[in-house]
Parts: sequence; C-alpha cells; structure tokens
Amino acid sequence: MEIRGLSRRARASGMSVGFVPTMGSLHEGHLSLIRRARSENHRVVVSVFVNPLQFGPDEDFTRYPRDEVRDVRLCRDAGCDWFFLPRARSIYPAGFSTTVDPGPLADLWEGTARPGHFRGVATVVLKLLTLVEPDTLYLGQKDLQQVRVLQRMTHDLDLPIGISVCPTVRERDGLALSSRNVYLSAEERARAPGLIRAMREGRALARTGVTEARRILARVRSTLRREAKPERVDYLALVDPATLLPLTQVGSAGAFLIGAIRLGKTRLIDNLYFRTRSRGGRRK
Ligand code: PAJ
Repeated sequence: MEIRGLSRRARASGMSVGFVPTMGSLHEGHLSLIRRARSENHRVVVSVFVNPLQFGPDEDFTRYPRDEVRDVRLCRDAGCDWFFLPRARSIYPAGFSTTVDPGPLADLWEGTARPGHFRGVATVVLKLLTLVEPDTLYLGQKDLQQVRVLQRMTHDLDLPIGISVCPTVRERDGLALSSRNVYLSAEERARAPGLIRAMREGRALARTGVTEARRILARVRSTLRREAKPERVDYLALVDPATLLPLTQVGSAGAFLIGAIRLGKTRLIDNLYFRTRSRGGRRK
C-alpha cells in the first residue's frame, strides 16, 4: 500500500501519525527527531529525499552524501514504522511547474545566500505533507529559518498540521551535527566549533545585562574571527525570535543569534536563543 493509504488507515482508526522529512545521510540530529516522534505518536513516517529544487546551481546536490541502506537501518532502530523513499520522478514528474512562494521571510539570511532555497523547501514539504497526511511535522531548530518558513506556510495555507521543533543535537565540542560536516578537513573540523563558541560568548555577555545588539555582535564577531577563522561570513545577526528581523536591542521575547560561515568550501549554519538577565530575572 502506498504511504497515504497507510497513514489514512491509521488515522481513521484513531492513531496519530508523526512525520520526519529528511534528506538522508542520517545522524543523531535526525534520530532525535525520529525518537521524539516515536514517543508522541502511534505511527512514525520518515522520508528520505534529496530535493533538487532546494539546491542552487553551484551547490552540492550531486555530491550530497547518500547512504540509503544505512538510513533504513538507523530509522528502524530509532522506531520508524514507515520509511518513505520517493523517487525524483514521482515528486517532480515531467511538466512540473507549480511552486510555493514563501514570501519575504524566505529572502532573508539563508535566502540571500541561497536564492530560491526556501521555495524549494516549502514546495517539497507541502508535497510530502500531502502525500503523508500526518498530524505532526517534526523539525530541528538547527534550521531555524526553515522552521519559521514552514510555520508560516502551514498557518497561511490552513494546513491541519502541528509543528514540533526539536533542539539542536551537537558534538561534544559544540559543533551542530550536519550531514555536511563530512566535507570538513581535519583542520577545518578543528575550527568549526568556533561558530557556536562565539555565539555562546555573545550569550554570556547578554546574561551580564548587556542588551545592545551592536555590543553583543561585536563580541561574537571577535570570538568568531579568533576561533573559527572563517574564509567567509555569509551573515551574523541578532534577530527577533518570531520574525527573524534584526534587533537593535534584546527585548522581552529574547533573541536568536544566527550565523552562516564558510570553512574552506563547506558552509556551516547555527543559531542560539537567549534572554537577557534583566528579563529572565533572578539569575545570580
Ligand atoms: P535535512 O538537512 O536532512 O534535515 C532534516 C531535519 O533534521 C530538519 O528538520 C533539520 O532541521 C533536522 N536536523 C538537522 N541537523 C540537526 C541537528 N544537529 N539537531 C537537530 N535537528 C537537526 O532540512 C532538510 O533536510 C530539508 O530541508 C527538508 C526539510 C527534508 C526538505 O527537503
């Protein structure tokens, strides 16, 4: 039976269906989403689809790491019931031309560095949601802007789907797990944790009571330059948690530090949420 039939039958008998979309090459970050979905649903669907529409012409679509046999095993071990491996031909048949335009949020940050990326993400996720018909979509906070784009889409298009956001899983030294970390040379890998270390320095400064973005970002930038020595900084910003627009001051809703850097040819992104002492209250 195809995935939609299985999902419909489960839901018709009162079961909940959780869905974890991925591009495969699974790691502990993905598995944490699957385990969370497992603990909250009767049935769990995981999709693996390296979506050509979200890669730019000069990006790594063809060399993106792929290992379906290993992915199936890891999924099963993490408690997935249905492994969904659509073919490019079935997602994008000849003549395919309709896409989702996520609006201005998709033009910020990642969208500036990767034009069309979120159109590709929103389009494929809408298609996958239509095929799987889950109750809840599980996403990682690692890709914060992706979360906001998909929350916007489900809200704007009245999709009857909940979104559950799971915390970023990291290596012991702080580096966020990513399928792209395999591209890093040993020397780049040693510099990579400098991104989150720099953000943590910024958070530490904010926790002393500093609320000006300018001062917090100056601290983050100097640590980043010293520790990660990036070849390029695509962006580094302090943003509103809901809109992802730049803040000049950390307000009562707190803030996210977001950043994207290049180490050699590899692009790393990360983010860190915090509140300041003035709001969070009585931290000593
Ligand atoms: P992919 O990069 O494979 O990630 C799949 C899911 O795993 C995303 O929700 C992502 O945020 C989450 N994830 C990745 N690394 C993580 C980490 N270190 N900790 C926690 N969660 C992590 O994101 C995509 O695929 C695609 O854009 C997709 C949504 C599948 C659409 O093609």
